[in-house]
Amino acid sequence: MKVIGSGAEATIKSDGELVVKERLAKAYRIKEIDDKLRKFRTRREGKILSKLNELKFPAPQLKLVDDRQMTIEMEFLKGNKLRDVLYKDPLGLGREMGTKIGILHTNDIVHGDLTTSNMIMDEELKFIDFGLSLFSKKIEDKAVDLHLLRQALESKHHTCWEDCFKEVLAGYSENCAHSNEVLSRLEKVELRGRNKH
Ligand SMILES: Nc1ncnc2c1ncn2[C@@H]1O[C@H](COP(=O)(O)OP(=O)(O)O)[C@@H](O)[C@H]1O
Ligand SMILES: [Mg+2]
Repeated sequence: MKVIGSGAEATIKSDGELVVKERLAKAYRIKEIDDKLRKFRTRREGKILSKLNELKFPAPQLKLVDDRQMTIEMEFLKGNKLRDVLYKDPLGLGREMGTKIGILHTNDIVHGDLTTSNMIMDEELKFIDFGLSLFSKKIEDKAVDLHLLRQALESKHHTCWEDCFKEVLAGYSENCAHSNEVLSRLEKVELRGRNKH
């Protein structure tokens, strides 16, 4: 197993077939709180992945959740991070993102960290990193999910983000049962964001 990623929350190891995501203890957090938080997030990511597998949503196959070791094992997705290939087809890939986010939201799953680093272009676009995801029916949560994606696109893909995000919204509208409500809330969320500056 070699380390393929290490973020603020977890270390990701892989042997090319499996991925092991381990939430390491944080020395700056009080131990009891840290243990609870890591356990909660590990379990939650497991629950969401297992629901996604049930729905046949394009995400890694979950293999194992261990809330003592604080690890999740899942399928390794070959392919490139969307971040590195978006420029090749920002409109088509934007549409695909939107379609798939629409499916997530229709099932009341909010990703919580939609960025092009958390999507992998396998035979199709697949989503990873459900560590901040939640089950939610709230229009606000779904609008914020899209807003964060917009910000991520704007900061990492500044030459194509606008047209790309338009396609995200188009794909989303076609695939999310209550897209009208979410999109009108998104407008409010964005106004709120702008007023802060
Ligand atoms: N199932 C997977 N298949 C292939 N690569 C993965 C997989 N899960 C994570 N990775 C790689 O590890 C990186 C970090 O994993 P991620 O779940 O996004 O954790 P973090 O919370 O640290 O962002 C990803 O950006 C990706 O490159
Ligand atoms: Mg990530």
